[in-house]
Amino acid sequence: MSLSARALAALALAPLLDQRQARSLAATLPELQARCAPRDRALLTEMVQGTARQGIYLQALIAPLLRHSPADARVTALLLLGLYQLAFMRVPAHAALQETVEAARSLGLERSTGLINALLRRYQRESDALHLRAAPWRHSHPVWLAERLRQDWPEQAEAIMAAANDTPRLCLRVNARRCRRDDYLTHLHAAGIAASTVADADDAILLEQAHDVSSLPFWQEGWVSVQDAHAQGILACLDLQPGQRVLDACAAPGGKTAHMLEHFDLDLLALDQDAQRLQRVADNLGRLGLHAKLQQADARQPASWWDGQPFARILLDAPCSGTGVLRRHPDIKFLRRADDIDKIVQVQRELLNALWPLLAPGGRLTYVTCSVLHAENQEQIAAFVAQHSDARCCLEQAWLPDEHDGFYVAALVKADA
Ligand SMILES: C[S@@+](CC[C@H](N)C(=O)[O-])C[C@H]1O[C@@H](n2cnc3c(N)ncnc32)[C@H](O)[C@@H]1O
Repeated sequence: MSLSARALAALALAPLLDQRQARSLAATLPELQARCAPRDRALLTEMVQGTARQGIYLQALIAPLLRHSPADARVTALLLLGLYQLAFMRVPAHAALQETVEAARSLGLERSTGLINALLRRYQRESDALHLRAAPWRHSHPVWLAERLRQDWPEQAEAIMAAANDTPRLCLRVNARRCRRDDYLTHLHAAGIAASTVADADDAILLEQAHDVSSLPFWQEGWVSVQDAHAQGILACLDLQPGQRVLDACAAPGGKTAHMLEHFDLDLLALDQDAQRLQRVADNLGRLGLHAKLQQADARQPASWWDGQPFARILLDAPCSGTGVLRRHPDIKFLRRADDIDKIVQVQRELLNALWPLLAPGGRLTYVTCSVLHAENQEQIAAFVAQHSDARCCLEQAWLPDEHDGFYVAALVKADA
């Protein structure tokens, strides 16, 4: 039997909510999207991402009504999904209730339908009091992260968390080798797709509404890619010159690799330790008509992959907490733990230390994260510069998440020999 969008949404969310499984949406959602009727795919994605974004608040809303957590995480997922529809979506209440209960039935959770129905109805009756009681959780972030954000960004923390709970818009990057941005905008408008340009991001176009990217004009021909506007801003920080030997040390899925190559002819090595993700770099470059050398390797172990020729430029788009991109990856709020941050900072430090000797004198290493935490950003770079007398930080910028994602970038120049 084919399952409804709500039933599939519950199957995506349950392994995330079940702490014993703690599976990311990237691991569960694609297969469930493929099982979903095409007309309901956008609804499925919105319900899953939205429920995950608001999930911590929704848990606080329902907590006073539950004597204990349901043993089956699918029941918890259905309760949160039902609440999300009632509190945040414009789904008529009777449809939200009926369809959520029906989804429970279709998943073989017949015995829980009474509980789901009763709790969602109680929420409707007591909604004002429940929202008042859950108000301290309105930010919908885990305590450790809310505290850390308030410590790092006392003035901006509430806005950062609010931005993390917004639904992101799809941002495109126009392939400068294939067409001009204004021409692509004309193609979009001709296809009836509402879109606008982004100030300060020359290749960026924002779509008004969610869209299946593969049906965008000239998608297969490689005229556009999906990339956040702030991520596109990183190209300008790299100070590239045609013909340079460049290392993209953490390249997958290849967004920044492609952006570099769309603007410059480079001798570029794109490295990633994850073979599956590296394949996505190959696929993306292939679609866009671009070329780079690809290598699967741990960037911290240059002895296993480096040919001894120094690089003029290194981009280190480091693995990070992802705290600047929570809107797009709301599952991070459930999956990350406070003590993960120290481990991530350690890996970033190892990457910086391993790659610095590969940079030519006078060369530039650009360090990027999509984190907003000082430990991964300003403090990481300050410590590096303090320990490397031949390193000078010539550019440092933090973009906080707003309509676009949060990023940090620091450019380190190596002293001439
Ligand atoms: C933030 S993502 C890179 C995003 C990419 N630069 C882009 O613009 O599309 C970080 C990448 O680092 C890779 N990675 C993590 N640790 C690594 C290591 N030690 N060596 C090489 N790659 C690593 C991950 O597999 C992941 O693909």
